[in-house]
Amino acid sequence: MPPVKSASELRQLIQSHRVTAVIHVAARLGIAELLRDEPLPVGKLAVATGADEQALRRLLIALSTIGICSAEGDDRFSLTDLGAGLDGNSEQSFKAWAIFEGQILSHRWSGMLDSVMTGKTAAQLQGVDNSFDLMAQSPETVSIFNAAMADLTRFTTPGILGAYDFSQIVSLMDVGGGAGELIAAIARRYPQIRGAVFDLPRCAEAALHHLDRMQVKDRTEFLPGDFFQAVPSGADAIIMKSILHDWNDERCSVILRNCRQALPPSGVLLVVERIMPEAPSPSEEHREQAMSDLNMLRGPGGLERTEKQYRRLLEEAGFRQVSIHPAGLFSVIESRLS
Ligand SMILES: C[S@@+](CC[C@H](N)C(=O)[O-])C[C@H]1O[C@@H](n2cnc3c(N)ncnc32)[C@H](O)[C@@H]1O
Repeated sequence: MPPVKSASELRQLIQSHRVTAVIHVAARLGIAELLRDEPLPVGKLAVATGADEQALRRLLIALSTIGICSAEGDDRFSLTDLGAGLDGNSEQSFKAWAIFEGQILSHRWSGMLDSVMTGKTAAQLQGVDNSFDLMAQSPETVSIFNAAMADLTRFTTPGILGAYDFSQIVSLMDVGGGAGELIAAIARRYPQIRGAVFDLPRCAEAALHHLDRMQVKDRTEFLPGDFFQAVPSGADAIIMKSILHDWNDERCSVILRNCRQALPPSGVLLVVERIMPEAPSPSEEHREQAMSDLNMLRGPGGLERTEKQYRRLLEEAGFRQVSIHPAGLFSVIESRLS
């Protein structure tokens, strides 16, 4: 029989989806925004959210047990520093990610058994080969996904800017740059850079809006297209964050070939990805990478790769001088054509 401590730990792990669910509800109801300036009584929160008062009180109590808010007496609740990250206007907000995780990923993950048994993605099991094509059937899902990716990229950008010196780059294209979060941050830090976001046409509106808001629209453009067909030329460097991990080696080699054709002979390629440890151990850091790997299995059909796997992929696609710049959760993998 397992010791009581192990059994209790196991039960907590089994029930961890409940934590995702209560955070998701808080994000959807805008609890963090309502509590931004001052603690509020449950009655007021119920009126503002339209929720049932008794049920909302129970949710707030659950949220206080996980540190998102705090009971203040008088039936009032305040927001904690942790909970402030659910405010869509906070500097490092994860509100959009909470909605993506609770509304989309948790449903997708409930079918993980099917993916483990077949090796197929959720989309493939529904008869659609490319999960981004399936996503296109729901504009709401596209918006939720783009906003969630922007949250994660905003979180990782300080690490990327600290790990890599972009001062030698004049023209930088973010291939699969989504809503423009990364290129806007790089362009703001490096005023010599002319930037471009290259992505599917459906990302244009969100990206142009963000580039404008970040005041870099005068030197950063959006280029619509499909990286399996071609990548536009004109940039002396390409950056790609969270792209290669979406695809299997065969599809990656098509993207990399198109990047190679778009770059000049002196071109630089910057791949920004998580690096899968060679020997994962039971640590928070390795759990994060392993869970992301399964997310790729169930979602787009890619995988998280080790350093050795990235080096091989890049070298087989004709890139040389591969060097790794650790940037926190992600790494910047630099390679060159000559
Ligand atoms: C995981 S997201 C990464 C977004 C962004 N690079 C980031 O890290 O925040 C993958 C991106 O690839 C884009 N994408 C998927 N298929 C594409 C294709 N065939 N051509 C161009 N972009 C594509 C998606 O629209 C999405 O923005």
